[in-house]
Amino acid sequence: MRRAAGILVATLFAWLLVSLLIPGGDQASATPQTWTSSRQCMTCHEQVFAEWQDSWHARSWIDPDVRAPSQSNNFQNKDCIDCHAPRPVFETGVGNRVLPRSSRRSEGVDCIACHLLPDGRVAGTIDNPNVACRPVATVSLQREDYCGVCHNQHKTVDQWRTTAWAERGEGCLFCHMPFRDGNPNRGRHHGMPGGHDLGLVSQAVTLEAQRTEVGVQVHVSNVAAGHAYPTDERSRASDLWWRPVSATGEELAWRHLHRIRDPYRWEVDVPSTLLLPDEKRELLIDGPDSEGALEVLLVYKLTPFYRDPVSGEPHTLAEVRDPLSDSQEVHRVRVGGTEAPK
Ligand code: HEC
Ligand code: HEC
Ligand code: HEC
Ligand code: HEC
Ligand code: HEC
Repeated sequence: MRRAAGILVATLFAWLLVSLLIPGGDQASATPQTWTSSRQCMTCHEQVFAEWQDSWHARSWIDPDVRAPSQSNNFQNKDCIDCHAPRPVFETGVGNRVLPRSSRRSEGVDCIACHLLPDGRVAGTIDNPNVACRPVATVSLQREDYCGVCHNQHKTVDQWRTTAWAERGEGCLFCHMPFRDGNPNRGRHHGMPGGHDLGLVSQAVTLEAQRTEVGVQVHVSNVAAGHAYPTDERSRASDLWWRPVSATGEELAWRHLHRIRDPYRWEVDVPSTLLLPDEKRELLIDGPDSEGALEVLLVYKLTPFYRDPVSGEPHTLAEVRDPLSDSQEVHRVRVGGTEAPK
């Protein structure tokens, strides 16, 4: 008993001595560090790192769709480097376009690009000068204008401003960076799903079809994208197809009904048909082939044009036999024929 107390006193004394000899001994770990790679953050933020590494932010420099000859052509087009391998957002400041960086480009949109402050500390939710990365409470990190630095070039933030989510103050993080397990104490998930996540895409829209006197009425509605469907990237497209279902159950060719897309700037004859927030769009299928039972299909495409599955040659919409060979199914509905039920 006495011995234990003695050890305790000695330990306390040693600790006191160390604290007196090393001023700010507590903060020894907070000696300013230079951040040169997101791998350094991984040491202490393993979970965030793993989520980010699996996200499209981490792939923005290596993404083959961005490197394609018709796109940045392996970043020969230098304008494309800015947002795909950016210098820190807080260097130029929220509201200004980011600058391109010249080193460690393969890390894409990384921890440093999103968090590093000009004085070498990091933007976070609370001040914490005693840890290595020295977080500073930074309200603008949660704002949509912060994501907008890179994401408003195709007006995603402007589209969001017109929605009920904006009115309620439910910004980009509300849907794209939810709390882990819904628990605010567990921080926000850095996976940031978007168009590559078919589950999220299917939540955004609904598809309904019913037979009326004039033909089959189809409704496609943007119910849960906090902006236009699809948003941001002109490469995205969502198509409606339909086909008659024969009495013998034979599957006939799909026919194109409608395309939802924002065209590239050079496609001057193509109108923008984005489905705006809350918009419910009505389309009609009529003509002799539409009198029997039929199927309506809504698909999503990460790149706008259909290619032949074998030759890779581009097809016009009229040439497409099986849209699903080069797109993903979002929703499918079936409508019965006009004949009276037996
Ligand atoms: C102002 C910032 C910015 C610049 C400059 C920029 N991009 Fe992007 N790019 C983005 C953002 C943000 C996304 C993600 C939006 C999305 O996927 O819908 C994106 C996504 C893409 C995609 C889709 C990637 C995928 O996952 O399918 C392609 C392709 C692309 N960009 C090509 C380019 C090309 C080519 C250039 C240069 C001409 C360029 N970008 C310049 C911000 C930018
Ligand atoms: C030596 C360990 C260590 C390294 C390296 C490190 N951090 Fe931290 N960081 C911490 C600790 C400990 C905390 C406080 C606890 C927490 O929030 O996880 C923290 C907190 C944070 C926060 C604030 C969380 C909040 O809610 O306010 C951010 C943001 C952050 N770190 C980003 C980074 C980034 C970006 C890097 C790399 C440039 C980095 N950290 C490197 C240890 C580290
Ligand atoms: C596209 C921008 C972006 C990237 C990339 C990014 N973060 Fe974050 N990070 C944020 C935002 C936004 C928040 C939420 C801030 C809030 O809730 O106020 C955040 C929150 C955090 C937090 C707070 C605790 C938590 O888990 O939510 C930590 C720690 C953190 N980030 C570390 C990192 C690290 C380490 C990396 C790289 C592996 C990284 N971040 C990459 C934008 C980013
Ligand atoms: C520094 C620029 C930058 C910032 C800031 C930024 N992003 Fe991104 N984001 C990108 C780029 C570039 C891509 C495209 C990556 C690719 O697919 O090549 C992207 C892709 C995405 C995607 C699409 C993922 C997919 O499936 O294709 C989502 C969702 C996203 N970002 C959400 C956010 C949110 C939310 C914020 C704010 C917290 C944010 N981003 C901040 C540059 C940025
Ligand atoms: C109400 C939920 C919600 C809110 C709020 C929201 N989004 Fe989305 N977002 C979605 C859904 C659902 C999708 C998938 C459908 C689509 O692409 O429109 C999506 C898709 C995206 C994509 C992927 C586009 C692509 O081409 O891959 C980006 C980028 C994006 N959102 C950015 C943002 C930004 C930036 C904000 C804030 C201004 C924001 N989102 C606010 C629900 C939301």
